[in-house]
Amino acid sequence: MRNIVGQTPRGNDFFKRNHIIKKIYRRLEAGNHLFLSAPRRAGKTSIMRYLEDNPREGHAFVYINTEDVNDSEEFFRLVAEKLLSSKAVEKMTKAAESSKNVFKQFTENISKIKVWSFEVELNKTEAPKYKDELETLMRKLDTEDFKIIIMLDEFPVTIENIKSEHGEEQAVSFMHANRRIRQEAKRGIQFIYTGSIGLPVIAKRLKATATLNDLNVLEIPPLSILEATRFSQQIFDNYKVEYLPGVIGYMLEKLDWLMPFFIQLVIQKMIDEFDETGSILSKKSVDIAFVKSGTHRSNLYFDNYLSRLDKTLPEKEAKNAKHILKEVAVTGEIHVDTFDGMEGSKNILEMLELDGYLTSDGKNYRFSSPILGAWWKKHVS
Ligand SMILES: Nc1ncnc2c1ncn2[C@@H]1O[C@H](COP(=O)(O)OP(=O)(O)OP(=O)(O)O)[C@@H](O)[C@H]1O
Ligand SMILES: [Mg+2]
Repeated sequence: MRNIVGQTPRGNDFFKRNHIIKKIYRRLEAGNHLFLSAPRRAGKTSIMRYLEDNPREGHAFVYINTEDVNDSEEFFRLVAEKLLSSKAVEKMTKAAESSKNVFKQFTENISKIKVWSFEVELNKTEAPKYKDELETLMRKLDTEDFKIIIMLDEFPVTIENIKSEHGEEQAVSFMHANRRIRQEAKRGIQFIYTGSIGLPVIAKRLKATATLNDLNVLEIPPLSILEATRFSQQIFDNYKVEYLPGVIGYMLEKLDWLMPFFIQLVIQKMIDEFDETGSILSKKSVDIAFVKSGTHRSNLYFDNYLSRLDKTLPEKEAKNAKHILKEVAVTGEIHVDTFDGMEGSKNILEMLELDGYLTSDGKNYRFSSPILGAWWKKHVS
């Protein structure tokens, strides 16, 4: 297993998280549409890509990143086209005879839409919509032994885009349209939604929580100690790195929050050291790797945590969020009541927790990842 830091690991570079993968299948098989809930960098995209590359029999997954979409019809057009150009359709029509005609009709209707939109200008009749065609497709696809699962990554960003381009009302109606499609859907197609910013927080701000309450929420936790140990060993082994007994345990204890990304970040520095010095890695190497990971100025990974705040929050909230993070970074730990007087602090703190910046034990807030905390203290505060 290579140490892929930041890109999406595919094939052998993906550390298989059996536990979560099983859970996803179990819930899909029970007919649920899912929302993968996890903080930033938890491995959501990696898991979806794994499902797409290695589907179990009777399943086909279609991965769609909707980050650049800022219009409802554009969203449904993208879904329709990605679906039709995927291998999923071919697999399904082979496995389930009844789906052949449904897809044939769907393909015809989709190809008509473009012509129609031209005619609309001439005839002023109402154009058929991608959304309606998808809805019809979902209603008709009632296959028993084969499922297509459409995975929508960065869905919350799409909602934010629609909101800023077309206003709140359109954003809410887009969420309703998605819900309606899910409600109409028979057994043939299911959805998995996720994204790197918190969907519940966005829905709450739009007062549209009800549009999500049919989704089955699945949390992606950090790796267990056992998983994280195996993960680290596999990477070190790949590079033939030697280390003293107890080094991995010490590293994981310091990391505290065992998300693959943060483990890889530190491991990367340790591999560098081993390459440079050729000496067997010790606990001291872990300490050095930590300092290097947290102090590196041009850290693209962490810069993104900062820039995302301005991109996804209104100006005042972004300012308050930065203020909160600065305080926590400087003090290391801060009592949960500290920001009670700040306007909107409850929502901001909720978002910072859901998105993986902060964590609380009910009494205090601290950075979820000590490395991110150290970086924040040095470069942002
Ligand atoms: N199962 C895994 N095996 C190997 N590396 C992983 C795994 N999961 C996550 N990673 C590492 O963590 C990084 C982030 O993973 P990924 O992009 O899947 O997370 P994400 O939750 O989609 O992040 P974001 O919220 O930023 O979209 C990857 O670039 C990779 O370095
Ligand atoms: Mg992602």
